[in-house]
Amino acid sequence: MTCPLTAKVKGELASRGSLVVAAYDIAVPVGTDDDRYRALLRALDDGFCVIEVILDDAQRGIDYRFVEVNAAFEQQTGLTNAIGKCMRDLAPDHETHWYETYGRVAVTGQTLRFEHRADALGRWYEVIAFRVGDPAARTVGVLFRDVRHRKAHEEEMQARVQARTAELEQAHAQLRHAQKMEVVGQLTGGIAHDFNNLLQGITGSLELIRRYIRQGRIDNLERLIEGAMGSAERAASLTHRLLAFSRRQPLDPRTIDANPLIASMEELLRRSLGSRINLEVHGAENLWLTLCDANQLESAILNLCINARDAMPEEGNLYISSSNVVLDAGEARRLGDIGPGQYVRIAVSDTGMGMSPDTVSKAFEPFFTTKPLGQGTGLGLSMIYGFARQSGGQVQIDSALGRGTTINLYLPRYIGEPSRCNRAVDTIEPTPASNELVLVVEDDDVIRSLIVETLSDQGYRICEAADGPAGLAVLQSRRDIDLLVTDIGLPGLNGRQVADAARLLRPGLRVMFMTGYAQSALSDSELLEPGVELITKPFAIDTFVRRIRGMLDA
Ligand SMILES: Nc1ncnc2c1ncn2[C@@H]1O[C@H](COP(=O)(O)OP(=O)(O)OP(=O)(O)O)[C@@H](O)[C@H]1O
Ligand SMILES: [Mg+2]
Repeated sequence: MTCPLTAKVKGELASRGSLVVAAYDIAVPVGTDDDRYRALLRALDDGFCVIEVILDDAQRGIDYRFVEVNAAFEQQTGLTNAIGKCMRDLAPDHETHWYETYGRVAVTGQTLRFEHRADALGRWYEVIAFRVGDPAARTVGVLFRDVRHRKAHEEEMQARVQARTAELEQAHAQLRHAQKMEVVGQLTGGIAHDFNNLLQGITGSLELIRRYIRQGRIDNLERLIEGAMGSAERAASLTHRLLAFSRRQPLDPRTIDANPLIASMEELLRRSLGSRINLEVHGAENLWLTLCDANQLESAILNLCINARDAMPEEGNLYISSSNVVLDAGEARRLGDIGPGQYVRIAVSDTGMGMSPDTVSKAFEPFFTTKPLGQGTGLGLSMIYGFARQSGGQVQIDSALGRGTTINLYLPRYIGEPSRCNRAVDTIEPTPASNELVLVVEDDDVIRSLIVETLSDQGYRICEAADGPAGLAVLQSRRDIDLLVTDIGLPGLNGRQVADAARLLRPGLRVMFMTGYAQSALSDSELLEPGVELITKPFAIDTFVRRIRGMLDA
């Protein structure tokens, strides 16, 4: 059975420049159009066949029979003597995709061009399928070319690209790891160096004190004590800055209006900056409240100003401003790892030397400094970064060499009532203790006895416990406790659990937490409760005594 090639076939063939390349060389015989196209198909390198599609009841193609094939068909398919045979018999595993596609062409008359694998024939094909002849005959012309070699090449290229990408990713990961190790090395080296010096200052002074006391030479001890205290304070500030960087510093978040806070620092800043530097402060009107640790915010602003001062050795301008900003998703993403929303921005700008892109990229690393030995520890910005992150905000550097620097500190807006402020307590002269009973829960014997001694000395009555359960037992007794002072990291029950139980048993009981390390055990909201405060170790005895008195008098 033969099927005359219609004008449609001719049109399709003519339009298929890419597939009908070989046709140019054919000597076209004289005769009818059909004769000429048959000769052309014979001479084609591409395969061509006319098939009769077999449909199911739902008009879906389920098989096809070969009506006509050209000379290249056998070489392009590997099928011999196909005419009159059904594809399902020739290649039982042929993909259903082929039947369905040809079925669609036969039913709709739509011409389809596609590439598809034919696993049963071990090839990939580039195909054009178009309806020929009477639509009721369900005959389809298929012009096709085996492209498995191109496909194999493409797949190989893709595999190579994937392998290369994987290699690059691995190299990046190694680089990141190496950089991390470098930072860790820098960090441990820096700590070890600074800490050993500080310990030397403390232990050396203590040893001399002991020796002089044994020899009865006690008139010159004050100087040694001051030396040891100085070293200890510097050690405390070092651990504080490290904890700040690692976002583990115990924060005491309060709702804060940054404008009065900055204004209250102006005097101190002018003194630290000297007369060469012109300081200007501009606070936005109706600045939103934010929630953060006021002392840390002050320390961050002071550090930024000192950095700015160091960047302007001759003279210059320093500008501190506050503003309300709303970050959309794109801006928040650019700042890195914070959500879109409302923030209070504090910007510190200087007209100093600026930073190179390399310095900008490293500025937040702990112990990264470009300052001469002894002049900078390289912890200022890393601490500010840690503080900003721990407070739910971000810090960003905008700087270029010779153009000056702006550091933007973003802190999340706080919506709600301003909380009471306990910072003024430091300046209150404590009223003497009036025999109140304080429960002290602390597992470190040395610290517990120091606290007990200090408080008894102030006239308080003391009850002590070395762990959580012992503390709880006292709370369950009938003793009339006025204040609970508890460490947070305790064996058995932690300080928070003790305090929770305490406030259940004795609603309204005042609690002072002590800690040297921020623990997830304590949330911001707990610290915002009235009657609950936090003091960070190491603390000055004077401060401790004042804060205790402040709580009891509140
Ligand atoms: N305002 C600024 N202008 C130019 N460079 C700056 C500025 N602020 C910081 N830098 C650069 O970033 C580095 C790191 O600053 P960072 O505050 O962390 O440490 P430091 O000031 O060197 O030492 P530390 O603050 O611990 O005393 C600085 O050494 C300096 O090179
Ligand atoms: Mg600094």
